[in-house]
Amino acid sequence: MSLIHVKDLSKHFKILNRREGLGGAFRDLFSGSYRTVEAVAGVSFDIEAGEIVGYIGPNGAGKSTTIKMMTGILKPTGGQIQVNGLAPYENRIRQAQIMGVVFGQRTQLWWDLPVIESFKILKEIYKVDQKTFDEHMNMFNELVGLKGLYSQQVRTLSLGQRMLCDITASFLHNPQVVFLDEPTIGLDIAVKAKMRSIIKHLNQTRNTTIILTTHDLGDVEALCNRIIIIDKGKILYDGDIKRVNALFGAYRTLKLQIDGFSESTLQSLRDKLMECFGGDHGIAIGETEEFWTDVTIDQARTPLSDVLNHVMTNFPVSDVRIVEISMENVVRKVYDGALS
Ligand SMILES: Nc1ncnc2c1ncn2[C@@H]1O[C@H](COP(=O)(O)OP(=O)(O)O)[C@@H](O)[C@H]1O
Ligand SMILES: [Mg+2]
Repeated sequence: MSLIHVKDLSKHFKILNRREGLGGAFRDLFSGSYRTVEAVAGVSFDIEAGEIVGYIGPNGAGKSTTIKMMTGILKPTGGQIQVNGLAPYENRIRQAQIMGVVFGQRTQLWWDLPVIESFKILKEIYKVDQKTFDEHMNMFNELVGLKGLYSQQVRTLSLGQRMLCDITASFLHNPQVVFLDEPTIGLDIAVKAKMRSIIKHLNQTRNTTIILTTHDLGDVEALCNRIIIIDKGKILYDGDIKRVNALFGAYRTLKLQIDGFSESTLQSLRDKLMECFGGDHGIAIGETEEFWTDVTIDQARTPLSDVLNHVMTNFPVSDVRIVEISMENVVRKVYDGALS
């Protein structure tokens, strides 16, 4: 039996159809006009002990909702989940002993207490003995140097420091499985690297199973052997990361700020690149952020440096960034049949 067994799992939210204004709000109260959001629309997978699985997809795909069901925070609308043979929602107290959870958007630590006091409370809650506690804290201290933060109030920590503390807390009771929901969101490269090394270390030394959601394909590449791609509540891909890397690893997005940008800039950029690199050049142009033009390049077909040179000589470029392919682009390509 797998450590985590999920079959035809779904979660629907009923949302009140809101009308505008105070009168609208008042009418809404009595109208009973609801619509249903299928946040998770029938997903199935099995996860074995010791795996690190990347659960990825664009915003609103249903990742957090799935995690909340696996951790017993939310009750499924339909289907089954078993973690270590038990349904999480029906066995919340027992399941808490075998799980750790980190939600990148909020902390499980006590905002007003010094860091070390939060850890001591968790130690009591999870009945961790003193020896295990000391070993654990020493290990984290060696990995990321937490000691300097012990006396600091949680509210005064930087996001990166707080996330490192949250991760430490989630592994404190040596759970069998840890769910990490966007643990690297908003972190700088250095803290991200620390985060990845802790996760990897704990997986290797304790065989802790890890389910990770992230927007950063770099996290996935550094940590996961397997990924599950979800969109609109349904699984698009479940399998080896190597196949996905082979497809997307070569993609980079060149983000450009072009002086005097207008609608016609995109078109003339498209024309120029077509003229220079020909038809099957593996270049796509779009706009995802205001003032930035995205040129996504398949480096297997056209070297990024060639495109950059070409653009720099033909357009008044004022700023440039190079980023990995975005999650949205990966998902679009999977829809277009990239993995089938
Ligand atoms: N408590 C809730 N009430 C209503 N709708 C929700 C609730 N939680 C999530 N949703 C909706 O369910 C969908 C999936 O959300 P979520 O699981 O948070 O996505 P993700 O974590 O992949 O970004 C979204 O459309 C979201 O708006
Ligand atoms: Mg989420």
